Amino acid sequence: MISAASPIENLIAIPSFELRPESALPFDLFVRLPVTNRVILYRREGSTLDQEKFDKVSSRQLNFFVPKDHYERYLEYVTRQFLDLLSKKPADSRKMQEAAGRMLSNAFSQENVTDARELLHSMGDFVTHFVSDIASEGFVNRQTLFLKFAKLAQTGTDFQRHPLHVASLTIMLVVGLGIQDQRTLVEVGLAGLMHDVGLTQLPVSVITEAHKYRELGTVSRALLKLHPQGSLDLLRSRGINVSKLMESMILQHHEEFSGNGYPTALIGEAVHPLAQVLHVADDLDELLAEASDGPQHIEARLRLLFERYERETTLDPALRKRLHALLF
Ligand SMILES: [Fe+2]
Ligand SMILES: [Fe+2]
Repeated sequence: MISAASPIENLIAIPSFELRPESALPFDLFVRLPVTNRVILYRREGSTLDQEKFDKVSSRQLNFFVPKDHYERYLEYVTRQFLDLLSKKPADSRKMQEAAGRMLSNAFSQENVTDARELLHSMGDFVTHFVSDIASEGFVNRQTLFLKFAKLAQTGTDFQRHPLHVASLTIMLVVGLGIQDQRTLVEVGLAGLMHDVGLTQLPVSVITEAHKYRELGTVSRALLKLHPQGSLDLLRSRGINVSKLMESMILQHHEEFSGNGYPTALIGEAVHPLAQVLHVADDLDELLAEASDGPQHIEARLRLLFERYERETTLDPALRKRLHALLF
C-alpha cells in the first residue's frame, strides 16, 4: 500500500464493486482504513490489482474513494464492466448479481449517514451512465426519457433526488435478483423515476408527508391514495408510452402482499413482484432520509424494516428473503 494521504474533500465515495485484476485502473483509488479512519491512496491510476488481495479488502466492506477529477473515468470504467457482463452470451448473471449485492450492502452497512447518502448519489450517477450506454436498439425513446428525468433529479436537492435514488436502487435490486434483460432494466428504472410524479398534483402539506401514510389523517390518506394513478395519468397526458410493466410498477408501488396496501388493496401474487421491489427501494431511500434525524445505525434501521416486512407480510416471503440476502 502506498501511504499518501489525500484531503478527503477532494474525493468522492464510490460503492464497492468488482474490479478486473487484468486491466489497468483508469483512476486513483483510495481506501479508508478501519481503525485509524485515515484515507490513503490504495492504487494509483495505471496500476493493476491483485484480485485476491482486493477481494480481501472489499469483503471487509471498506469505503473506497476516487478523486473528483477522476470520477467521470470511474463511472465509465464500472459501466463498461457491467455492460461486458451483460453482453456475454449468456449474460454473466452470477457476477452481476454479486456486484449489485456488493454495492447495495456496502451502502447500507455504513455507520455514517452522510457516507451512505454519498454512496447512493454515486450509485445514481453510475446507473444514469449505465442506462445511457446500454445498447439502444428499439427503446431509444425510453432511454432518452430516463436520462432527461435523471439529469433533472441529479441537479436537485435530496428531496428532488428521491426519484433517482429509487430508480437506481430498484435497478440494482432487480439486477441482484438475476433479471438482466436490458429493456426490462430501462423500464424498471423509468418506473422508479416516475413513481411519484402524481404527487405534484397534491397539496404541499400532503406531499411532504407522502412517505408516512400510516401516520396521516383520513383526508390526507384519501388524497395520497390518488397519486399512483395520478402518476400514470400525468405520464399519459404528456404522450409518454407507458409499458405494461411500468404501469404495474407505478400503480402498485404502495400495495402490500398482505392486502393492506393502497390504492386497491391487491392481495398476494396480484401484486407484481417488481412493484414490490420498487416499494422496497422507496422505503430504502426514506430510511436514509430518516436516519439523518436520528443516531440509530443504518443497518439497525434496515433490520427493523425487514422485521416489519415479515410481521406485516408486506412482501412475498420468498422475495423478502432474497432481498434480505442482497442487502445484508
Ligand atoms: Fe408513492
Ligand atoms: Fe416515493
